[in-house]
Amino acid sequence: MSNLIKRTHMCGEVDRSLIGSTVAMNGWIQRSRNLGGLIFCDLRDKSGIVQIVFNQDVPEELFQRGDALRSEYVVGVIGRVKERESINPDLKNGDVEVIAEELVVYSEAETPPIYIKDDDEVSENLRMKYRYLDLRKHKMQANLTFRHKVAKLTRDFFDGEGFTEVETPMLIKPTPEGARDYLVPSRVNQGSFYALPQSPQMFKQILMAGGTDRYMQIVKCFRDEDLRADRQPEFTQIDLEMSFVDVDDVLEVQERYLQRLFREIMNVEVNLPLPRIPYEEAMERYGSDKPDTRFGFELKSLSELVADSAFPLFADAVSDGGTVRGINLNGYSDRFSRKDIDKLQDDIKTFGAKGLFWIRVSDAEITSSFNKFYDPEGLKNLASVFDATSNDLILIVAGPEKVVFDSLGFLRRELAGRLGLLDEKRFDLLWVVDFPLLEYNEEAGRFTAMHHPFTSPHLDDIPLLATDPGKVRAKAYDIVLNGVEIGGGSIRIHDRELQKTMFRALGLSDEEAANKFGFLLEAFRYGVPPHGGLAYGLDRMIMLLRGEKSIREVIAFPKNQAAACLLSEAPSPAGDDQLKELGIELVKE
Ligand code: AMO
Repeated sequence: MSNLIKRTHMCGEVDRSLIGSTVAMNGWIQRSRNLGGLIFCDLRDKSGIVQIVFNQDVPEELFQRGDALRSEYVVGVIGRVKERESINPDLKNGDVEVIAEELVVYSEAETPPIYIKDDDEVSENLRMKYRYLDLRKHKMQANLTFRHKVAKLTRDFFDGEGFTEVETPMLIKPTPEGARDYLVPSRVNQGSFYALPQSPQMFKQILMAGGTDRYMQIVKCFRDEDLRADRQPEFTQIDLEMSFVDVDDVLEVQERYLQRLFREIMNVEVNLPLPRIPYEEAMERYGSDKPDTRFGFELKSLSELVADSAFPLFADAVSDGGTVRGINLNGYSDRFSRKDIDKLQDDIKTFGAKGLFWIRVSDAEITSSFNKFYDPEGLKNLASVFDATSNDLILIVAGPEKVVFDSLGFLRRELAGRLGLLDEKRFDLLWVVDFPLLEYNEEAGRFTAMHHPFTSPHLDDIPLLATDPGKVRAKAYDIVLNGVEIGGGSIRIHDRELQKTMFRALGLSDEEAANKFGFLLEAFRYGVPPHGGLAYGLDRMIMLLRGEKSIREVIAFPKNQAAACLLSEAPSPAGDDQLKELGIELVKE
C-alpha cells in the first residue's frame, strides 16, 4: 500500500519530550468533536491515546477529511506535537496534542455495537460476539501483553534450569484426569475416536522414560466439564516434568520460579521457602484444600466439648461419626443481623448442612441460637475455644466432616469477602501437601484416585493400601494463591509392582488397566527413571495476578457458559457429507 504512514511513535509515547517534533502514528479514532473551526480527535492504539487537532491553519482539504472521521475509523496521522492549552487529566499525555499535517484513512467503520471503554457495562455475551472490538480496550490489550510476558519469563526460567519444551499430540487416547473428554471421530478408522488431551500427563511421563530428563510445555488442555469463572473447556497449562526427583526437588525449583515471576512481573518479593500445609491440617484449620490465608477466621473443633451435650443436633453429629466445628468472626458481630445469618443458613444448605448455629458475645451478655440447651456458663465454655471477646460472632455447623468443612470453608471466605478482608495487593502462596491418595466414590462404590492413578503413595503408607486405603497419603501437592488452586502435581509411581498394587486398590483389573494406560505401562517395562512434576493453570494465574474475577478476561477468545464461541459460532452442526464420511448417524430426538 503506497499511502501507508510509517509510524514513528505509538500514541501513548507522544509526550512533552516531543514538543516541537513531527510524529507519525497509526490507530483507531476513539471519538471526534467538531467545535466549529476546530476538530479534536482522540487517536488510540494499544499503548494509549493522543489528541489530534485539525485547526484553521491546516489546509481546507485536510480539514474536510478530518471532519469526516468517525469512531473506529482506522487512520494514519502525521503532525507536530504541541503543548495543550487545556490539560486533560484523564490521559497520561493529556498535556500535549498533535496538529495534523497529513491524514490517511485506511478503513472506515460502521457504528460499533459496543463502546471501546474499559469500564463499559455491556453484557459479556456481546463482548464475546464482537471480541475484536472488546480486544481494542486497553485493559484487554494489557491483559494479553501481561500474559505474553509471563509466558516468556516462564520459558526463559525453565530453559535456564535445563528444561526442554516439547510439543505433545492433540489427538490422543483418553488421559486419566477424570473429567469428560472431548472426542474427535476418526475418518480413516471409522467408529474409533481420538480424545483431545485433558493434559499431556501420560506423554510427559513417556518423555521421562524417553530420556528427556526435564520437560516443559505451555499447552492447551481440553475438559468437558461444568464451567465456572475459573474454568474453561479449553485452557492453558504450564506443564512440567522432571526425572530423578522427589517432592522436595520439584517444589524447590517451582518456588524459585514463582519468586522470580513475582519479582520481575509483579515487583513483589516472595519469601522462600513457601509454607507447606498438609491436606489434613488445611481442612481442619480452613475447611478447604485451597486455603486463603490472607485473613483469620480459622475453624475450631467443638466435637469433644459437645459430645455429651443436651442439644441433640450437636451430640448426634458426633455420635454419628461426624463433627461440630465453628469459626469466630471476631470483632464483626455487629455487622450481621439475624436475617443475614438466616440467609447464610440457606447458602450452606447447598453443601448438605442442616443448619447454622451461632453464639454472640458482647460486653453485656452471651447468647446463642440454642439457648434452650446451654446456660451462659455453658456458652462461655464453648466460646472460650474461640478466645471470644466482645463483638464476636461464632458460627457453628454440625454434621458429617465433609459437610462441615465445605460449609465453614465457604462461610470463611464468603464473609471475609463481604467484610472487605481480601487484600488484593497481598499474594499468599502456599503448598498443600500430603493429599489422600484415594477418595471413596459413593456412586461407584469404590475408591478412586484423588489425583490420578500414577500418583505415588508415601512409601511408609503402602501397607495401609490393603487395610485402610482412605488413610494413605499421596506424594501430591497443590500450589495455592489467595485461596485458588493455581497448580498441582505429584511424584509418579515408577515401580511396576507398586503400580499393580495401586490398580488393585482402585478396583482396576489388569485388563482394564492395560486397555486404558497400556502404552505407558509398556514403556515402563524398559527402564523408567523416578519422576514427578506438576502443571499450573496459566489462565488462573494470570487472572489472579491481574486482579480479574474471571479467566475469560485473560483469554483472547474464550467460550461462554454454554461452552460456545459466540464469535465464530462454534460448535455448529456438521454437514451430512462430513458425517457420512465419518460413519456417524445422528439420532434425532
Ligand atoms: P490438574 O488437573 O490439577 O493437574 O490441572 C492443573 C491445573 O490446571 C488448572 N485447570 C484449569 N484451568 C482452567 N479451566 C479448567 N477447566 C481447568 N482444569 C484445571 C488448575 C489446575 O491446578 N496432569 C496434572 C498435573 C500433574 O500431575 O503434573 C493435571 O492436569 O489451575
